[in-house]
Amino acid sequence: MRIPEEKIDEIRNAADIVDVVSKYVPLKKAGANFKALCPFHHEKTPSFVVSPQKQIFNCFSCHIGGNVFKFLMEFNKVSFVEAVKEVADEVGIPLELERGDSGRESEREQFYEINVEAARFYSDALLKGDEGKAAREYLEGRGVPTRIMRVFGLGYAPDEWRALTERLDKRGHDLEKAATLGLIGKNDRGYYDKMRGRIVFPIFSTNGRVVAFAGRATKADDRGPKYVNSPENPIYHKSSVLYGMFHAKEEIRKADSALAVEGYMDVVALWKSGVKNVVAVSGTALTEDQARLLSRFAKSVKLLFDADSAGVRAAMRSVEILLREGLSVRVVSLPEGEDPDSFVNERGAEAFRKEEENARNFFEFMAGVYEKEGRFADPDSLAEAVRELVKPVAFVNDDLKRAAIIKAIAERFGLRERLLESELEKTTRSTRRERRPPEKQPTRGKSEPTDAKPSPRERDLVKILYEGERRALDFVFDRVQPDEFRHSALRALAAEAYGIWREGGLPTPSNVGERLHNEELERMLYDLAEMNYDYSEALDAMGTVNRDDVVYFEAIDTVKRFKVDRLDKERSALAAELANAFETDDQRRILQELAVMDREKKIAEEEFEAIKERARNAE
Ligand code: CTP
Ligand code: MN
Repeated sequence: MRIPEEKIDEIRNAADIVDVVSKYVPLKKAGANFKALCPFHHEKTPSFVVSPQKQIFNCFSCHIGGNVFKFLMEFNKVSFVEAVKEVADEVGIPLELERGDSGRESEREQFYEINVEAARFYSDALLKGDEGKAAREYLEGRGVPTRIMRVFGLGYAPDEWRALTERLDKRGHDLEKAATLGLIGKNDRGYYDKMRGRIVFPIFSTNGRVVAFAGRATKADDRGPKYVNSPENPIYHKSSVLYGMFHAKEEIRKADSALAVEGYMDVVALWKSGVKNVVAVSGTALTEDQARLLSRFAKSVKLLFDADSAGVRAAMRSVEILLREGLSVRVVSLPEGEDPDSFVNERGAEAFRKEEENARNFFEFMAGVYEKEGRFADPDSLAEAVRELVKPVAFVNDDLKRAAIIKAIAERFGLRERLLESELEKTTRSTRRERRPPEKQPTRGKSEPTDAKPSPRERDLVKILYEGERRALDFVFDRVQPDEFRHSALRALAAEAYGIWREGGLPTPSNVGERLHNEELERMLYDLAEMNYDYSEALDAMGTVNRDDVVYFEAIDTVKRFKVDRLDKERSALAAELANAFETDDQRRILQELAVMDREKKIAEEEFEAIKERARNAE
């Protein structure tokens, strides 16, 4: 049984965690919260806290925490669905599970349900049915074991005209909606299956919902196209989905790098071999939305497209789009005639990783292409080629990196650096208008994640992100990007909040916790939502009763401290460098940089004070 997400939200919002928990554990009021001896471990002094305001519980000693559902799951050792049912009962929200009642569900949920039904139908046909035997053998022949077919939900569409149509009809789904999703079509004789005799790849959203399907032809004599793909529809926007993202996102985050390949089969083959930070762009260039999606999880992307001309063109365009999103880009090329699927199946994951390590810088890749095309041979086309080569360099936001690239291009092609610089200057001028506003640009603050002790500033800031206050979130994310957090877990939590915020949602511990699927992060999140400190003191001090305002002011202060702290850190690093610099040129450069930083710090402080003042006056 699936309970629609909206329903789950409704139930969670209607419930009061204090009521539910106190049915099982005697709670005592302690300030804004409730305390008790922790029911999950043995203790003498209470460290188990329930926050009515945040609707979560947390134990500071054994670090278990979560929302109302999590409590029931842990306490009664029941499944998520059972926990939801219990709470639904408690608050008197009927869970209409009968098909016929689905009219009350939102339209979108109905679309998702149809897709889930179809995915299950296709999967059964592949894994269980006789009809699917040939397809199963085909996949096995290409090295895909049953386990992987399950992981990716692969399926088979029976070679019949009404198999899926009838199943959907029988289960009470709206066929008109199924047609909108592109699963079935309609002619003068009625509805019919669109995919027949094809291997089906369900396409998952980043959050793991089935949004579309791709059907691959299996028979050599198949006249139709190699792939039949779902059309754009209310729940599927092709340009913002990446195949494999749901499966890969944690690995991408861990590696801080994603590998983008062309085909569905490439993703499946690599994943099976243990290369799991992989997504497919489905045979075209990456879109801006896809690049932005990747940037939520990693700083760098490796492109691995076919070496044919379409692949090369797609790679070229993708490079620029990725650079614009502030990602660093490298291009992997496999030996002639190989694609990731064939390569990894023949030579194994280790050989593949080696090829990956040999990935070239994006400009080396582009230069290689131009060279092959003979464009460096005569002066006219050379000038043009250099111009095109320099254009993407303008999107590299790091000055030093940009200079290094220019130098490398100059050396590689025996060109004068000055020539390249002046080209760069020209394109920078003409592209400046298209560039994103300054606060969205990756800043110097980007840094390598670490697992060392998190700084209090970072903790404070992430805490604010989960207060569920839109104005504070807008304020923070207009100024701080998730990858400015140094602590890796905090960075991941910031990225999660960022993703939800950007889709118009409001992250809170209670609605994000259960989606993290990562115990360490979950624990951190609940610890952060630290209940010892709530805003009531601040509320009193400020003489206002509006929580939204308090969190907003808190956000302004914290962002300021975050920025100023960082400037201070960078400043001391520079100062240390100054002490070690012997050359006067070095010294002069460092002194100049120090002066710039002092100015920046002052500006930051003034800016934030001004914002706060304005906000206060606006009350
Ligand atoms: N593609 C498509 N429609 C086609 C051909 C290709 O949508 N008619 C997209 C698919 O997303 C496909 C990708 O382009 O996965 C790459 O194409 P290709 O390499 O031909 O397909 P693979 O999935 O790699 O399949 P195979 O390895 O079996 O050739
Ligand atoms: Mn292929």
